[in-house]
Amino acid sequence: MKAIFTSGKIICLWAIFLIQFIHPSAGKAENGYQLWLRYAPVEDISLRNQYLRQTGTVYLADSTSPTLAVLKEELTQALSRMLGKPITFVNQPDGAGLIIRTTSANASLGSEGFQLQSNATNTAITLSAQTDIGLLYGGFHLLRLMQTRQPLIQLNIHSTPKLALRLLNHWDNLNRYVERGYAGISIFNWHTLPGYIDQRYIDYARANASIGINGTVLTNVNANAWILTGDYLQKVKALADVFRPYGIKVYLTARFSAPIEMGGLSTADPLQPQVQQWWQQKVKEIYTLIPDFGGFLVKANSEGQPGPQDYKRTHADGANMLADAVAPYNGIIMWRAFVYSHETPEDRFKQAYNEFKPLDGQFRKNVMVQVKNGPIDFQPREPFSPLFGAMPQTPLMMEFQLTQEYLGQGTHLVYEAPMFKETLDADTHINGKGSTVTKSVSGIAGVANIGNDINWCSHPFAQANWYALGKLAWNPAQSSETIAEEWIRQTWSNKTTVVNTCKQIMLQSREAMVNYMTPLGLHHIMGNGHHYGPLPWGNTLPRADWNPVYYHRADSAGIGFNRTATGSNALAQYHPAAAAAWADSNTCSSEYLLWFHHVSWQHRMPTGRSLWQELCFRYNQGVAQVRTMQQQWQQLQPYIDKERYTQVQLMLGIQQREAVWWRDACLLYFQQFSQQPIPAQYEKPAHTLEYYQNLKFPYAPGNG
Ligand code: GCU
Repeated sequence: MKAIFTSGKIICLWAIFLIQFIHPSAGKAENGYQLWLRYAPVEDISLRNQYLRQTGTVYLADSTSPTLAVLKEELTQALSRMLGKPITFVNQPDGAGLIIRTTSANASLGSEGFQLQSNATNTAITLSAQTDIGLLYGGFHLLRLMQTRQPLIQLNIHSTPKLALRLLNHWDNLNRYVERGYAGISIFNWHTLPGYIDQRYIDYARANASIGINGTVLTNVNANAWILTGDYLQKVKALADVFRPYGIKVYLTARFSAPIEMGGLSTADPLQPQVQQWWQQKVKEIYTLIPDFGGFLVKANSEGQPGPQDYKRTHADGANMLADAVAPYNGIIMWRAFVYSHETPEDRFKQAYNEFKPLDGQFRKNVMVQVKNGPIDFQPREPFSPLFGAMPQTPLMMEFQLTQEYLGQGTHLVYEAPMFKETLDADTHINGKGSTVTKSVSGIAGVANIGNDINWCSHPFAQANWYALGKLAWNPAQSSETIAEEWIRQTWSNKTTVVNTCKQIMLQSREAMVNYMTPLGLHHIMGNGHHYGPLPWGNTLPRADWNPVYYHRADSAGIGFNRTATGSNALAQYHPAAAAAWADSNTCSSEYLLWFHHVSWQHRMPTGRSLWQELCFRYNQGVAQVRTMQQQWQQLQPYIDKERYTQVQLMLGIQQREAVWWRDACLLYFQQFSQQPIPAQYEKPAHTLEYYQNLKFPYAPGNG
């Protein structure tokens, strides 16, 4: 009886094993927690055997350092999962398939680069780097090649990061509420730190290291001085200790008024010696606990945050005071340029440039100015910020927003890499043609889209934006398509249908969203406060430049913001060669038209349509694109695990309904000014304008 049971059990196990290999998604519940580090079994037997020869036996020169211990563990787990059997670590390189060691011979690898080379017979692979962290990055790269089923033959990869600073910025509050967060509460559980180390911290660090992210700002830019108390610094230290082996430094946001709030001083004036001393002491305390602390990110004199201007000092005075405090420890200050004044009636587009450009050359060496990709605020499409290229003496940090505050929040499928690339590849012309924005930045920060949802980012496809941020910061020249393909293969499947279909969905998604939300250069027409849904009629907030009507300026004559010489002249902030592309409404590309021009409803578009007709066309196209995405996703049902398939399917349903809502609300509203019908070929809005205007969402998520 026992024998029969045992053989039955064996047959059963074999059946499970075979099912897993033939159809890895079948019968396996997936919840997205593993991100792109799923390490699905290699189905192709000859490829698996080849991988086994090359990586089944590993020589790791010294696995005692914490970073190499991490590498060893990752390889152990990943390879055995992909190859279906445990791997062996050996003490001698002879006979090993995978040989991992540091080398001092190749200075061009720098402190983070790595090299992967196969031998002439493709039976062995050598991974080398100058540092342990370089080896960890190289290890993750090798695993990525295997996860994407690349043949590991004639490998000769030499990879170094193009940007030194590759950061996430968490807008996470100490009470775990995430500002503009749509994926649950903060993963950082301050209350149980430092005593309890959640496995999430480790998995977060693994995920970041796998894509080269080397720093994280743990706290919200709308800062709370409490993080600087002794107790909380112990908690920060605990996280820093977890992240260190993964090459990740921690940074904090500094509340400028902390010397008053925490230190009991009567001022936070950066030129006052007692203020300087307070920061020096605080910084010393931090570095005693965390010797490799990265430094501070500061939002000052912006949206009500305290700052040096409260004392009639400049941004440079404030940044330099903090920079001097962290300089002895090699710390840096990332000082944000996201400012717009309460007093100035100037076009908000121009204000950051007006304030910061004159300060070029006045910052300490360890200050970086952190600039949002566009001049306003993370809109679905913005022209690049004119500050890029305009501050040649100041290192600039690019700030992208991963969390989809204005991009459909937690439910819309929007792959952001094409948007990031649009900015990075834009030509500032500052040093002649080809002066891309990329050339003007020394680092990239992404405002994180991570929370404690089981799949980290709420929408399964939102993980791709976190992934893309890391990959682009490592190499801004990589294409959105390559990054998407890598991510799909690791996250979903290597099946050609899945790869191709997901790629089509992802690559059209950002343009679809622009079409159904803000086509032709419209911007900032979303709901007040929570920023959810359309509100082009919005005109009730106390500041003009918080109101949608300020931005679209629709009237009976036309629509759009005139930023040419006859208007606010924001265009003059760009190099003339860059401005030239946008200066004339007849040649300005349709994508940016209403950013720079107030044009008539009859304005002839390159398509031959009038502006009004084009607006109707684009809004409807956006809806059609989402419907296509839904159909494409449906085709993938047989290949995707049920949980994740259903989640995406339901969210695409929400996206489709919201795309229709955006289209109908916006067209009905703008129609009041154009006084023209919505062409007959398009769907008629289901409701009246009043209906849309009366919708209220007091509990929409993500507000400050
Ligand atoms: C936007 C966002 C705020 C955030 C701010 C910033 O305005 O809505 O929540 O604080 O950007 O970047 O500082």
